Amino acid sequence: MKVPQSSLITFALLLIQLSSASGGKILVFPLDGSHWVNMKVLIQELHAQGHEVTVVRASDSWYVSEKSPLYTSITVPSPGGFEENYFKAFLSRQLEIRLQEPSIAASESITLPVEGDSYTLQCNLTSSHSVHQESYWMKNWEEIPETRSPNKNTEYLLKKPRGEATGVYMCVFTFAMAPAANATIEVKSAPEITGHKRSENKNEGQLAVLYCKSVGYPHPVWTWRKLDNGIPREIDNSSGRFLISSRDNYTELHIVNLDINLDPGEYHCNATNMLGSRDEMIVLRVRSHLAPLWPLLGVLAEIIILIVIIVVYEKRKKPDDLQDDDDHAGPVKTNSTNNHKDKNLRQRNTN
Ligand SMILES: *[C@@H]1O[C@H](CO)[C@@H](O)[C@H](O)[C@H]1NC(C)=O
Ligand SMILES: *[C@@H]1O[C@H](CO)[C@@H](O)[C@H](O)[C@H]1NC(C)=O
Ligand SMILES: *[C@@H]1O[C@H](CO)[C@@H](O)[C@H](O)[C@H]1NC(C)=O
Ligand SMILES: *[C@@H]1O[C@H](CO)[C@@H](O)[C@H](O)[C@H]1NC(C)=O
Ligand SMILES: *[C@@H]1O[C@H](CO)[C@@H](O)[C@H](O)[C@H]1NC(C)=O
Repeated sequence: MKVPQSSLITFALLLIQLSSASGGKILVFPLDGSHWVNMKVLIQELHAQGHEVTVVRASDSWYVSEKSPLYTSITVPSPGGFEENYFKAFLSRQLEIRLQEPSIAASESITLPVEGDSYTLQCNLTSSHSVHQESYWMKNWEEIPETRSPNKNTEYLLKKPRGEATGVYMCVFTFAMAPAANATIEVKSAPEITGHKRSENKNEGQLAVLYCKSVGYPHPVWTWRKLDNGIPREIDNSSGRFLISSRDNYTELHIVNLDINLDPGEYHCNATNMLGSRDEMIVLRVRSHLAPLWPLLGVLAEIIILIVIIVVYEKRKKPDDLQDDDDHAGPVKTNSTNNHKDKNLRQRNTN
């Protein structure tokens, strides 16, 4: 590193912990604004080598910007620069804090899909104040079973990572004499709708419940639309009968007091996060009040027709039966019976 000598004099450079060639933590106090330009060159180089640089800046400093990709800043309310005593007190306090905090080098957050069949999340405990006990992994704030190990460098393998693998992963290191330390790695992807009700059949006046659920992280924002002349539109809630409840990876649309004319149709649930969006269709059918009676009405109609048939048949049959009884006639005498019947009818007619 080639650094102008003057800047090293005017800047107090504190190498808090350069345990290895990379990954040390460096605290920088710029004391003289005119040399910031030189200092920045140095910081750039340190950053490039993987050091973590923290710059202490006065709140009214215009040359040391608060935000930078090269360093994190600590702003202290000190108009006109730092006073020596304050500087010392601050320095020792910062030193203490920095030395207490264990540091973890963790994999970057990733977005699925990734190349290859698997992806390994890594956490390395690079420094710690007290004796390290064990490490384990968490997903969505729940411990992943069988990930506990005494290793300082720990890995978690994602096999064929898909939508279900997304979420917030966290490696946790526990210590004998100090609180646990952790680092988070986000595994993100566009949402995928993994379940929905394809169709719902209800009677008018009833309640319809349509739902969709998703995988993918960050959790999507849910919207419901209804197809109107082939175009999905916002649901018209002028009647106040629509209720949407969404939480994280699940959404429900409730339609109360179904209307047979207004409500049937195609409903769409749309899940959108910063990485993409998905859409699924659900068909709602609404039947008339009488619909459940139809089978009953059918049976009733059948019974009525049957009764009518029986009655008519009986009415036509009765005279014959009477005649047969009078005649005591066998089947051979069919002709005579017919003659008889004709006579009988004629007689009746003449009467
Ligand atoms: C953790 O350490 C291993 C081996 O020492 C190294 O290969 C890996 O890159 C490190 N991971 C991170 C995230 O620093
Ligand atoms: C992770 O560490 C932070 C402090 O750095 C702490 O507030 C949080 O509770 C820890 N989370 C877990 C799950 O250990
Ligand atoms: C949805 O999220 C909850 C926690 O918020 C989780 O328990 C559940 O398994 C998730 N469901 C799906 C389908 O991802
Ligand atoms: C529809 O209106 C009702 C009553 O005003 C309200 O409670 C409900 O939240 C509304 N639903 C939607 C989706 O805006
Ligand atoms: C979901 O809705 C958003 C806007 O709200 C739209 O940009 C996107 O195209 C929709 N996604 C699908 C798959 O229709």
